[in-house]
Amino acid sequence: MNQNLNKDKIIIIDFGSQVTKLIARRIREFSVLSEILTIKDFKKNNIFENVKGIILSGGPSTVTNNIFPKIPNEIFNLKIPILGICYGLQLIAKQFKGKIKANIKKREFGRVILTKNKNSPLINNFFKKNKSIVWMSHQDSVFKLPVGFTKIASTNQSDMAIIEYKKKNIYGIQFHPEVTHTQNGSIILKNFIFDICKARKHWKIDTHKRQIIKEIKKTVKNDKVICALSGGVDSSVVALLINKAIGKNLKCIMVDTGMMRKDEFKSTYKIFRNKYKLNVKIINASKIFFKKIKNITNPEKKRKIIGNLFIKIFEKEAKIFKGVKFLAQGTLYPDIIESRSATGSKTSKIKSHHNVGGLPKKMNLKLIEPLKNFFKDEVRILGNTVGLIKDISQKHPFPGPGLAIRIVGRITPEKIKILQEADYIFIQELIKNNLYNKIWQAYAALLPVKTVGVMGDSRTYEYICLIRAVISEDGMSADYFNFPKTFLDTISNKIINGVKGINRVVYDITSKPPSTIELE
Ligand code: XMP
Repeated sequence: MNQNLNKDKIIIIDFGSQVTKLIARRIREFSVLSEILTIKDFKKNNIFENVKGIILSGGPSTVTNNIFPKIPNEIFNLKIPILGICYGLQLIAKQFKGKIKANIKKREFGRVILTKNKNSPLINNFFKKNKSIVWMSHQDSVFKLPVGFTKIASTNQSDMAIIEYKKKNIYGIQFHPEVTHTQNGSIILKNFIFDICKARKHWKIDTHKRQIIKEIKKTVKNDKVICALSGGVDSSVVALLINKAIGKNLKCIMVDTGMMRKDEFKSTYKIFRNKYKLNVKIINASKIFFKKIKNITNPEKKRKIIGNLFIKIFEKEAKIFKGVKFLAQGTLYPDIIESRSATGSKTSKIKSHHNVGGLPKKMNLKLIEPLKNFFKDEVRILGNTVGLIKDISQKHPFPGPGLAIRIVGRITPEKIKILQEADYIFIQELIKNNLYNKIWQAYAALLPVKTVGVMGDSRTYEYICLIRAVISEDGMSADYFNFPKTFLDTISNKIINGVKGINRVVYDITSKPPSTIELE
């Protein structure tokens, strides 16, 4: 029997917002079980069993249309507290017969100042001097409250930015408390979950681990799975989870693209083979990878060619490994968000990112992506529960296309060697100075320009090495790391003295946005 059936939970009804999963993550951070449902799930039986609260998410729809997604009115009489966020607030107002209009002149996107009008259990400890900064993303606004509701807070453009129907425990907020740009946003969610819904803390990552393993068993049955193992956190956790679920029916494929960090490929192989006793096959594909990208300078082309080559290799392997039906990948939730265009247009996609972008539309293998609802830091914790060593669970992210997108422009074997050496020096120095774990991601890159220098008494004409180190929560936005000057001096000296081919080191001081984390 599913043990979670006995536990308090908060359900989130997803109306299609890009940040719905972030709400679920915030609830997990409070050790409370949450489940994301859609309006179709209302047809199922028992969906309200053990439900302590309902959150209605944001989404792209508008209640100003004749047809819009809604929830059955009976749900408002279940005596389960409800919190509507953005579209969720507008929906509540609409279903209670308030008035909403699309107001092009009063759109609010980004950070906005919210002013408190009245006390409410939802906003305990949220405001400082009756003001707070919140993150908005909407065009429609409630302009007439339905009967029974009161206004709790407002902004210049949105009169009804927080509303409540206290007697029925129904609340609505126009901004997004789940995103970090809203100052103290999690206080609102905490107030809702604990003070209003009275949910108890039951959720542990371990519970989720068991669920994932169970689901893999159920999906795969007696078929076989190949797993693209790179030795990064995500694919390592996936491999260990699937191994726990199906044992020898999992085959891990490690593709040596020749574009990995210095020494990393061999050490990863040894760990998975010797320590975890997984069935791992190495494919040395560096020649073919190099041949295909050696003259390519366009970043998107590099990404596409590498992505396609990976898939071809896996499909070939699938034919050899009889009975294989599934390809497992370590796709995370932010990968999915970043690889799809927010507006649906082709031009707004930033990169053919991660594992997601490069996959062909038609594949012979079905995908298994057990981590696709999770964020990186949660996956690191999940990794600890399946015995993943800290050296891997704490590793910085590394992009699938590897050094190919860190050597800007044309790639040569000489450049790969130079970059591997410089990167190695940088990373070792971070570890030695206890900085590695304070940084989300750090690497060295090679710029396609040579500049003049002087070493000894001779003129040099060599490459520029760019070093990048960023702090971030999930890779979707990032800030550069503030190194002490002495550390930067050390890095510059060590790289220039230790790597022939580099005579200048620069530190990248841009955040994301406007830059991205990788150079290409
Ligand atoms: P950007 O450069 O878009 O990257 O700011 C955000 C995060 O994603 C990583 N990244 C990738 N990861 N395959 C991956 O598995 C890829 O193709 C890829 N491209 C970028 C990047 O290293 C950063 O952590």
